Amino acid sequence: MTSATPLDPTTLPLEQKALLLSGQDFWSTPAVEAAGLPSVVLTDGPHGVRRQQGDFDQIGLLESVPATCFPPAVAVGSSWDPEVAERIGAAIGVEARAIGVPVVLGPGVNIKRSPLCGRNFEYYSEDPLLAGVLGAAHVRGQQGEGVGASVKHFAANNQETQRMQVSADVDERTLREIYLPAFERVVTESQPATVMCAYNRVNGVYASQNRWLLTEVLREEWGFRGAVVSDWGAVDDRVAALEAGLDLQMPSDHGAGNQAVVDAVRAGRLAEDVVDRSVARVAALAGLVTEPTDGFDVDAHHALARELAAGCAVLLKNDGDTLPLGSGRRVAVVGEFARTPRFQGGGSSHVNATRVEDALTALRASLTVTFAPGSTLDGSGDAAALRAEAVAAARDAEVAVVFAGLAESDESEGFDRSTLDLPAAQVQLIRAVAAVAPRTVVVLSSGSVVSLEGWHDDVDAVLAGFLLGQAGGAALADLLTGAVDPSGRLAETIPLRLQDTPSYLNFPGEQGHVRYGEGVMVGYRHFETAEVPVRYPFGHGLSYTTFATSDLQVRTNDVDAATVTLTVTNTGERAGRHVVQVYVATTAGPVRRPARELRAFTKVSLAAGESTTVAFELDRRAFAYWDVREHDWVVAAGEHTVQIGDSAADVVAEATVTLAGDAVVPELTLGSSVAEWFGHPVAGPQLLAGFLATMPEGAAEMHEGMLQMIGSMPMRRFAADFGSAIPAAELERLMTAAQAAR
Ligand code: BGC
Repeated sequence: MTSATPLDPTTLPLEQKALLLSGQDFWSTPAVEAAGLPSVVLTDGPHGVRRQQGDFDQIGLLESVPATCFPPAVAVGSSWDPEVAERIGAAIGVEARAIGVPVVLGPGVNIKRSPLCGRNFEYYSEDPLLAGVLGAAHVRGQQGEGVGASVKHFAANNQETQRMQVSADVDERTLREIYLPAFERVVTESQPATVMCAYNRVNGVYASQNRWLLTEVLREEWGFRGAVVSDWGAVDDRVAALEAGLDLQMPSDHGAGNQAVVDAVRAGRLAEDVVDRSVARVAALAGLVTEPTDGFDVDAHHALARELAAGCAVLLKNDGDTLPLGSGRRVAVVGEFARTPRFQGGGSSHVNATRVEDALTALRASLTVTFAPGSTLDGSGDAAALRAEAVAAARDAEVAVVFAGLAESDESEGFDRSTLDLPAAQVQLIRAVAAVAPRTVVVLSSGSVVSLEGWHDDVDAVLAGFLLGQAGGAALADLLTGAVDPSGRLAETIPLRLQDTPSYLNFPGEQGHVRYGEGVMVGYRHFETAEVPVRYPFGHGLSYTTFATSDLQVRTNDVDAATVTLTVTNTGERAGRHVVQVYVATTAGPVRRPARELRAFTKVSLAAGESTTVAFELDRRAFAYWDVREHDWVVAAGEHTVQIGDSAADVVAEATVTLAGDAVVPELTLGSSVAEWFGHPVAGPQLLAGFLATMPEGAAEMHEGMLQMIGSMPMRRFAADFGSAIPAAELERLMTAAQAAR
């Protein structure tokens, strides 16, 4: 007997095809033997594998198989280093293959619209370029190991409050310029095996059944070829979702969705080829299933997690070269987080780490350290006595290093924070220590930015670790002692006050809607444009050495693209890594542009005294805005300034170029305004000539004043009420000429 040739899954009976369109349990698709399709496991992600132990028919927050907890996206964002993201993706791929997981659900590339979003720790940045480059690198690494990725959560999932119902009400330009580009880059550069749709609605329509997003933009514009999977429980109307382009519903809903699909086909409400299309896409995921490998090198992956974490933390302040800590120094380490590290966030991404290294143990390996917890994580114990013990230790030391931050209960998937503040007890502790210690360093652990106000000026140095994964404690020690040079840069602005943040008045929305009223002015785009002072700007970060930028040159070509070259020199005494940040600034064109926008970046390693030339290609998109009239990217004619920044607020070199731009010939209708008619490149001059010919002497001089006064009047009304001088047939002719020139 030879085994039967597997059937093309789209030729299966309808009921069997429908089975393939949803999970058989919480984490896997059903096997279909007749079509030779094995079951496919899809599990979290994004910064380590979370494969639930035992049966998959339980709700998925049970104990999972041990895996390496790599630095979460909040830290990777601060690395500004696609190599970090790619190596994490690759290592996760290796572990997934060992653990028997063909699709790992990540990375998350949603934009940090507000620092309060409870899931910011799973996202990279407030900037779409940074998020997109890192996300694409993660997918490249993971899929390079043969393990499918799932870029999520598509789209406009920028808060946890009401995440399963809220409508993110976002205008078209803002979606195109801020909330979609990171997904676009991941899809077009790295072609992930799956895209996960978001829970929320976008402009009133659930992302899970949003045809514009899932089909028109994702597939028809960007060329996505994989399967769209729902976020877990995101499907509201299964048939509408399938028609919109959602292929795989997760997890199992015990057959209800499949039955609805079958009924709709039988009733003639749903074309069977829509089913076939999704069946083919889901069936293709089976190609990712492999026999589990022999395991992975736990030690090597832990060492990798340590190496990569050290490239992520951001040295915010270092007055008087307080850091690095010299080897002979008497150091007081204060804070429970030094001994019990906070290294990952809560919720679906929670990894059962193979081991955890704390900073205290690592610091003790090279320094003489006294330790005092200063407070307890759950607030129990005698707070005053704990603080007094810490103050005594700090008084005796040459340097005090306070480990502070947020507990896992303060921020997690599922809810948003309501404050940027550190817990009051920690602020009290920092201030008490700083009052007696000769030098004070604060090391922060948190999944998103916290306020530094009330204590920042009392301390000498601040190292923001965010969440660094299971080896983060050791990585922090490497940075504090100077074994590694700090090279992280902020991927999100640290504001002075929550009230200064652009989404403050519109976050997290009300009555089922969140209005993205700040438009494209998200993060540093707002702070720089509105000139709102911040504590530390996007892109800021110190090193133990210094860098200088020189010889900036910008050459444009005839398609409005540019080549940027510059020289970077390490002007200090030790080796270090510098992030070259390239921004573009312009006021040309008809829409309000942010003061500057990040358009390229790279991280360079330089020995003391070494120089290197860095080159970037800026494509025309780097200069473009989304034009809502043209529904397209448009480069405005005029001056554009390429700026090199040590942060979004600190421009160290700039060069201005003039671009020809796109010759946009706007559409003209009778509803277009008088100003639009007279200003139109094709119709305007002819209209004016004809109009003036019929007017009395002196009308030409009046023309400008008249336009100012009645410029906004629709031509239909102008022609009817004032315009016997412009015959209807002439308007008709000019509209045709305008259309022909488009
Ligand atoms: C999260 C996803 C996650 C999924 C599976 C959802 O609640 O939003 O990010 O991949 O659960 O755990």
